[in-house]
Amino acid sequence: MSKQKCVLAYSGGLDTTVAIHWIKENYDCDVVTLAVDVGANDKDLDYIQKKALAIGATASYVHDAKREYAYEYILPTLMANAIYESKYYLSAALSRPLISKLLVDVAQKEGADFVAHGCTGKGNDQVRFEVSVAALDPNIKVIAPVRDWAWSREEEIDYAIKHNIPVPVGKENPFSLDVNLWGRSCEAGVLEDPWTEAPEAAFEWTVSPQNAPEQPEYLEIGFEQGVPVSVNGECLDLVALIEKVHAIAAAHGVGRIDHVENRLVGIKSREVYEMPAAHVLTLAHKELETITLPRELHHFKLSLEQKYAEQIYFGLWFTPLRKSLDAFIKESQKTVTGSVRIKLYKGTAVCVGRKSRLTLYSYDLATYDKADKFDHKASKGFIDIFGLPTKVFAAVQKNAEEKETVAAD
Ligand code: ARG
Repeated sequence: MSKQKCVLAYSGGLDTTVAIHWIKENYDCDVVTLAVDVGANDKDLDYIQKKALAIGATASYVHDAKREYAYEYILPTLMANAIYESKYYLSAALSRPLISKLLVDVAQKEGADFVAHGCTGKGNDQVRFEVSVAALDPNIKVIAPVRDWAWSREEEIDYAIKHNIPVPVGKENPFSLDVNLWGRSCEAGVLEDPWTEAPEAAFEWTVSPQNAPEQPEYLEIGFEQGVPVSVNGECLDLVALIEKVHAIAAAHGVGRIDHVENRLVGIKSREVYEMPAAHVLTLAHKELETITLPRELHHFKLSLEQKYAEQIYFGLWFTPLRKSLDAFIKESQKTVTGSVRIKLYKGTAVCVGRKSRLTLYSYDLATYDKADKFDHKASKGFIDIFGLPTKVFAAVQKNAEEKETVAAD
């Protein structure tokens, strides 16, 4: 009988490298690795591919998923203006369902029984991977080596040395990082004290706002039906557009976020994010919606945005609710076409202008000068009817109070 197989989400780092050996040893199965490029990291995929084979993987896949990540995951999230707890643009959370999908694809192709991830037992990511895998193929079982072995770093290094697994030399990064096209997340180390200001060493993408240029810079972002399509008049595909906005905003120190967040597993944790492109594009998108969405649609959409963010954060991407929300959001974007001007200055991004050929903003209606076309007189009847329930309620209350007073006298 041929051996069982496990497809491991492989980053090339110590945990998942040790995991190759550990899974083979503990599950007596072949290990196939999959490294996914979701952008903005300086990973050498070729090196990672060879490294997995050298450690003992029977096959090693690498996959450039940047476009898929941008169009299938980031874009719906941007259209939803999804921000977890009003702060976090969900970058790490958003990449997990995509990596899970690719793991399941390889597992099905390879006829594997298991997939594996390198998450610990106290984070959100284990939930996101496992719920996503279950949604995509409920027959695939999940192995979580790092959660299972629960070693200290020293114990892990001892295991690595004992099995001839190369251990990274040099100074260890004092933070735990997650990096992709949409954002950079940084936690642990000194950040674990929420009173301590994040040191400059926690930031890699953005310049310190203090050292940002003295002159502001303007960005004009063009959208077609909710999709950002151009920057300063230059049409770009979504990956290139995100990279461009990132570079310009990061140079002005924009997109630093310090967040104590509620994890799905009940813990509060402090994370420092750098999300220059996510911050600027979400701001621009929201601003365009202010002139292109009719009021009722706009207010209803706002009430769903938080729910959408929660679905992503909680690992519920591949669910009927998220898909249904997506259908609504996509429909809502049909008129979200136009341009937004953003001013970047020393860590801040402010919208200073918006325009659209479909704008619902009417100068004739809004103006206080002579051009005013608004029918002021019509307001009287409107208020009489709009305020009627409130007036009737107040009258009944007053009447009842008066009766009580008379009875008491
Ligand atoms: N707290 C964020 C989340 O759960 C980011 C986690 C990223 N991991 C890290 N090691 N910084 O989505």
